[in-house]
Amino acid sequence: MSSLKERLSYNAEFIEKTLDKLLSKDKLNGGNMAEAMRYATLGGGKRIRAFLAIEFCRLFGGDEERAAYYASAVEMVHAYSLVHDDLPAMDNDDMRRGKPSCHKAFGESCALLAGDALLTYAFEVCASAPLSSEKNALAVRTLAKCAGAAGMCGGQELDLMLDCPDYESLKKLHYLKTGELICAAATLGYIASPLEYDSATAERIADYALSLGLAFQIEDDLLDVRSTTEELGKPVGSDEKNGKKTVLSYMSVEEADAEAKRLSTHSAGLFADMEGGEVVSELPVYLLSRKK
Ligand code: IPE
Ligand code: IPE
Ligand code: MG
Ligand code: MG
Ligand code: MG
Repeated sequence: MSSLKERLSYNAEFIEKTLDKLLSKDKLNGGNMAEAMRYATLGGGKRIRAFLAIEFCRLFGGDEERAAYYASAVEMVHAYSLVHDDLPAMDNDDMRRGKPSCHKAFGESCALLAGDALLTYAFEVCASAPLSSEKNALAVRTLAKCAGAAGMCGGQELDLMLDCPDYESLKKLHYLKTGELICAAATLGYIASPLEYDSATAERIADYALSLGLAFQIEDDLLDVRSTTEELGKPVGSDEKNGKKTVLSYMSVEEADAEAKRLSTHSAGLFADMEGGEVVSELPVYLLSRKK
């Protein structure tokens, strides 16, 4: 397996199959909510978070099988966050991943519950990974912290407050709402590897993932103004409709492009000198050119 693109599609296919098995209807007790959980998680998404989990596991001597449960758990938390993010009480967006948002397809109460159940199930999956109980406990704790009040939910709260006086405060919001879960993905990949956890390595991974996450959200803000709904698979103009502060509240498109590039180059440099570090080093710059 050589190029980054091949690796992206290989990992995406692998995680799709794993998620499909983990979200089998018999495990979810059937019903509409189970259908909504599958609808929100399967058959779409770039799987960047799963990719990071798998590739950081590989980088430290593991493989996709070792990372499978943690990578799936992070994708489930991500899918739940999108279901709730699209609800009328939040961004009120009717399309996601090229199809009707979960609440449009299943109704609000079912979407709310499907999100809750995806989040909860993610921790069950994480704790059930075929790795040591020490690793599983650390993975659960890391994912919980990154997804919760001091992580993604905290960022979503700041996002809804529509109150960012300057770029520094927007950066804090973006780090929380997007960077933290991306950081969880990469860190869980490392935890899944055969190596023993070492905090200096975890800090390097966090540096990589938070810079990548900020660049990723800057790019998401830019796509919201310069893409089309058809290409993006979700409504463009959502941020403006909701009065959201985005990177473009503080700088021009050119400056935002340069900022995303600066951050991505920083991430790219952090593992470039490590044997096997090419894939995680190429990803940040590759993501700058994404179309959705
Ligand atoms: C969308 O994430 C929400 C953000 C944090 C920007 P992605 O762009 O990774 O969404 P999918 O998973 O590919 O649909
Ligand atoms: C990130 O922000 C959303 C989450 C953390 C769930 P956005 O609201 O910009 O994400 P999109 O553009 O709807 O995917
Ligand atoms: Mg939002
Ligand atoms: Mg949104
Ligand atoms: Mg957005």
